[in-house]
Amino acid sequence: MAEMIVSDSAFDTAKAFADFFVGWAKENNSENKKLYVALSGGSTPKILFDLLAKNYASEVNWENVVFYWGDERMVSETDPESNYGEAKRLLFDNINIPEENIIPVNGNNTLESEAKAYSRKIENILPSSMGIPVFDLIILGMGDDGHTASIFPNQIELFDSEKICVVAEHPVTGQKRISITGKVINNAQKIVFLITGTTKSKVLDTIINKRDDYLKYPASHVTPANGELLFFLDQEAAIHLM
Ligand code: 6PG
Repeated sequence: MAEMIVSDSAFDTAKAFADFFVGWAKENNSENKKLYVALSGGSTPKILFDLLAKNYASEVNWENVVFYWGDERMVSETDPESNYGEAKRLLFDNINIPEENIIPVNGNNTLESEAKAYSRKIENILPSSMGIPVFDLIILGMGDDGHTASIFPNQIELFDSEKICVVAEHPVTGQKRISITGKVINNAQKIVFLITGTTKSKVLDTIINKRDDYLKYPASHVTPANGELLFFLDQEAAIHLM
């Protein structure tokens, strides 16, 4: 059963997760084991990155944390659309973390080449179980349409792909993206959704309570094989769950 942590506002949600993340990083700080974390894009993570940089920079042994992205837009890192670019601006440029601990998608590469290259970067470095890479922690958002990472409702077969990373496309803008697939997401030790705002409340209710056609939403397919699933929500997103 998933754990729900509901906070008053988006800021409080980001803070609740920041406290959780810092505690987890401290508990698991060991020179023998790196912590492999996959970040997402979105508005709540930006609040989180700013918070971590401003209030927790010295509380985490960043040497021990390696950051990947669960999905990335295929743009240059200076483009405000870049998930890596935003994390760099808000977090990495403001903490003491070795450059080799940050493993971004190359937004300037060609699509299929980067999907393969990023798959290799994940496969060659992370431990695996059942032949599938294991992230220690994957942070996910959820769109109003129930997408997660960059798997959208009209491309749900990508979630079930045998690959580690796939090329995806935003159904409205056509923006090309790279996304990790469901087999990697569901193989993580901890999967955390950061979901805030009224616009998410209906889909979230449908997914959590398995209503109607909930399986059409990619976020409903996030079911950890062995790990934990946690939802950090604000009151607005959780309004139908109360
Ligand atoms: C992306 C994200 C995406 C995001 C959701 C929620 O690159 O767009 O990874 O999955 O998490 O769209 O975004 P918001 O939190 O901004 O609504």
